[in-house]
Amino acid sequence: MKHYTSINDIENINSWIDEAKEIKANPLANKELGKNKTLGLLFFNSSLRTRLSTQKAALNLGMDPIVMNVSGDAWGIEFGDGTIMNGNTAEHIKEAAAVVSQYCDIIAVRAFPSLTDKEKDESEQILNSFVKFASVPVVSMESATGHPLQGLTDAITIAENSTKKKPKVVLSWAPHVKALPHAVANSFTQAMQKMDVEFVIANPEGYNLNPEITKDTPIIHNQEEAFKDADFVYTKNWSSYENYGQNLEVDANWTITKDKIGDAKFMHCLPVRRNVVVEDAVLDSDSSLVIEQANNRTYAAQLVLKKILEDL
Ligand code: CP
Repeated sequence: MKHYTSINDIENINSWIDEAKEIKANPLANKELGKNKTLGLLFFNSSLRTRLSTQKAALNLGMDPIVMNVSGDAWGIEFGDGTIMNGNTAEHIKEAAAVVSQYCDIIAVRAFPSLTDKEKDESEQILNSFVKFASVPVVSMESATGHPLQGLTDAITIAENSTKKKPKVVLSWAPHVKALPHAVANSFTQAMQKMDVEFVIANPEGYNLNPEITKDTPIIHNQEEAFKDADFVYTKNWSSYENYGQNLEVDANWTITKDKIGDAKFMHCLPVRRNVVVEDAVLDSDSSLVIEQANNRTYAAQLVLKKILEDL
């Protein structure tokens, strides 16, 4: 594999899940594979899990990770083609990506959307510029429209915790105080579409995700109806896609409660705002898989890095 920027880079999710389970059972088995190889992690936005789990994955493979907070610490990067750089940006992506490629064998990038300019966000300018101008493989650590390391993690976690051949999985919107990206929900949707699960999305009117992502996945605007017989409830807030980046008024209470989800397992990518997105009683119960999900971030990242290292 060259780059990992989308769930669509996964050819066979079931074989990837099996390989991730093998890695989890013996995480240091490939310690020689990444010897003398450097992973550069470039963060344009904040992170706890992605930052640490991807470094941990690299260390498990014998790689040397180096990390930079690009927004705070690097020169302002210009992405426009032909721009007269007499403003705030000091370095063009053409030089920046080429230079970082000399220091790193793989570059991982996190760059969130603006949520103000749909067309620009969907062009994935930052991620795709690294793909275009770097001479080494690029991994998305969450971009404007996708979080494929999280989506792979979630697929692994569902496979590990499923007691049925074809579980019912519900992706439910939940409230939040801020307007959030669609990336996690998009990649989760794409991952579930590749798995043998009964998958539905529950969200209020006005919050349908990009139809090019949801395709023929059923979208239900009644949370109670969607949760009927659910085995897994995956919760995430996202801002409106139709009224791009806005937080719309919602009549019903969409906060996740123990009463609503019953015996279903609860999942969330974290970080999560307690008692806004989900009540304490869910997060503090045995039904919650959120800590296991965060653990699996390491093995998802390790699988992706392993596949890229094998093809270097
Ligand atoms: N789930 C996730 O990507 O967490 P961080 O934003 O902390 O990396």
